[in-house]
Amino acid sequence: MQMKTEVYKINPENPDMDIIALCADAIKRGKTVAFPTETVYGLGANALDENAVRKIFSAKGRPNDNPLILHVADILDVEKYAIDIPPIAYTLARIFWPGPLSMVLKKNNLVPMASTGGLHTAAFRMPSSKIALAIISKSGVPIAAPSANLSGKPSPTDGAHVIEDLSGRVDIILDAGRCRIGLESTVADLTSSPPVILRPGGISFDELRMVVPHLMKSYDSSDSDAPRSPGMKYTHYSPDASVIVVKGSMASTVEKINELTENNPRAGVLCSLETVDQYRTEIKICAGSRKNPDEIASRIFGSLRMFNKLDVDTIYTEYFDVGPMEDAIMNRLLKAASYEIIET
Ligand code: TXA
Ligand code: MG
Repeated sequence: MQMKTEVYKINPENPDMDIIALCADAIKRGKTVAFPTETVYGLGANALDENAVRKIFSAKGRPNDNPLILHVADILDVEKYAIDIPPIAYTLARIFWPGPLSMVLKKNNLVPMASTGGLHTAAFRMPSSKIALAIISKSGVPIAAPSANLSGKPSPTDGAHVIEDLSGRVDIILDAGRCRIGLESTVADLTSSPPVILRPGGISFDELRMVVPHLMKSYDSSDSDAPRSPGMKYTHYSPDASVIVVKGSMASTVEKINELTENNPRAGVLCSLETVDQYRTEIKICAGSRKNPDEIASRIFGSLRMFNKLDVDTIYTEYFDVGPMEDAIMNRLLKAASYEIIET
């Protein structure tokens, strides 16, 4: 696949409305547009247009049974495309939208099966990014958008990541620099009872539990037995090197990683500010301070991509048990590691 990709720089706080109009028009005409959200960049197309949606799957090399999230600009848009919406969906939307929460609901017939990977349900999210919201409302259609990376690669948290993966494969790429949150949305399935979280993300389980006390987690297990969220069964977030998670106290983690990297000049370490000086290997990337979990969360994907430039063959990463974002951070890292973990 090789096509002409237009790349535009755009200011996330004060977006150029001519560029927004051009993107909305492209969406209406069945084209693909990669745009920033507060979580990660998305690769968007008109969710109601089967042909447009197919372009997303082929640009990413995404298996076609992996459903897409429909991005809306208003809770009222959800009523146009979902049925049997439970009251809790309205409560969650009022509290957490716009923001990093995707809600799985029963879809109606306006949403083609191509968008939902053959499911009768669809995930809906209203992002808070000004650019995303403006494109959605101006296009007048829900925008189906998975993360704008090649399938299997770390999600893109910077315009440069999208250009690296999708240049020549999509119609338009907007580059607005770094995404604020840097990890994808929390996916909650409200069609099951009790409702379950399928993917931990930008909004923590504890926060959601305050509103939905019977909410359960459906993502802890590392076995791939009948995954509820179809996307969970595929390789994910993989940099070129293999990733190994090392879990233990800070002291035992440092000791173990030093031992493991001792004779391998191509080993790298993903660590925190608190420990970075204690590693003897040359190649280390510090994701941030353990006192600032949001910073670590926002740098995980970018760090994994950075290692590609450093020609490492193995990345040892610390276990970031850093409060409410721990689930989301470690879910991504454990997937990147294909659940390979060394406990010390
Ligand atoms: O933050 C985000 O959610 C980003 C931005 C662009 O909004 N999008 C994103 O999309 O991460 P994607 O396609 O990379 O991940 C969507 C996840 C997948 O794990 C998929 O299986 C799940 O949501 N999903 C989507 N629709 C679903 C459905 N109807 N039932 C169960 N899981 C669903
Ligand atoms: Mg993705």
